[in-house]
Amino acid sequence: MDATTWDKRYGSGRVWSLEPNKFFAEAIEHLEASGVVPGRAVDLACGEGRNAVWLAGRGWTVTGVDFSKVGVETGRVGAEAEGVAVDWVVADLVDWDLGTGCWDLVAHVYLHWPTALREPFLARCAAAVAPGGHLVVVGHDRDNIEHGHGGPQDPDVLTTPTEMAEIFVKAGFEIVRAETLLRPVALEGGHGEAAEHAADAIDHIVVAHRL
Ligand SMILES: C[S@@+](CC[C@H](N)C(=O)[O-])C[C@H]1O[C@@H](n2cnc3c(N)ncnc32)[C@H](O)[C@@H]1O
Repeated sequence: MDATTWDKRYGSGRVWSLEPNKFFAEAIEHLEASGVVPGRAVDLACGEGRNAVWLAGRGWTVTGVDFSKVGVETGRVGAEAEGVAVDWVVADLVDWDLGTGCWDLVAHVYLHWPTALREPFLARCAAAVAPGGHLVVVGHDRDNIEHGHGGPQDPDVLTTPTEMAEIFVKAGFEIVRAETLLRPVALEGGHGEAAEHAADAIDHIVVAHRL
């Protein structure tokens, strides 16, 4: 989906939750509980800013980047409502300069690109993490197509935690966590059926620490 398509989607009302993604939030809370001090964070493909605003509220100095100006504007309004500062950037991540060794946290949450774009981008994400910093990836797992629910259906834009972990190990990271996770989702009912039926989407999380 291009920026115009995301703009249209975000223009018809909030798409994602106001709260941060549960798996992302748990990962950050766990890092902080183990001694990580909030520093400079970049939320790549920040969408409507739910994770960026939440991080800023915890004391992180946050930059949120997305190519949807409508999504970023929603983030800006949300940050103002929460009374937190986020540096918002409308840019295409394909050529946005992430910098080198300059972020204590790089967040990559539900960003799904084809392999030819993803692999060089993940290398840039890894290079952008400061020594001692962390990279947190949350996304739909490839296994979700066959055994899960919703999400992208093109296997080329999906990965596994093992594949992600291998990339980051080669880039000099230690893997703190790399696993699949079940995310309960509500299914729409219809024709007088009960309004909600539980199903599980299969996501994954990878937390990598730059040594
Ligand atoms: C599924 S949404 C996830 C949003 C956010 N990370 C979250 O978890 O709420 C994917 C986001 O990726 C953004 N995106 C996709 N391709 C992009 C690109 N080339 N440059 C910048 N943003 C991009 C879209 O605009 C969209 O906001």
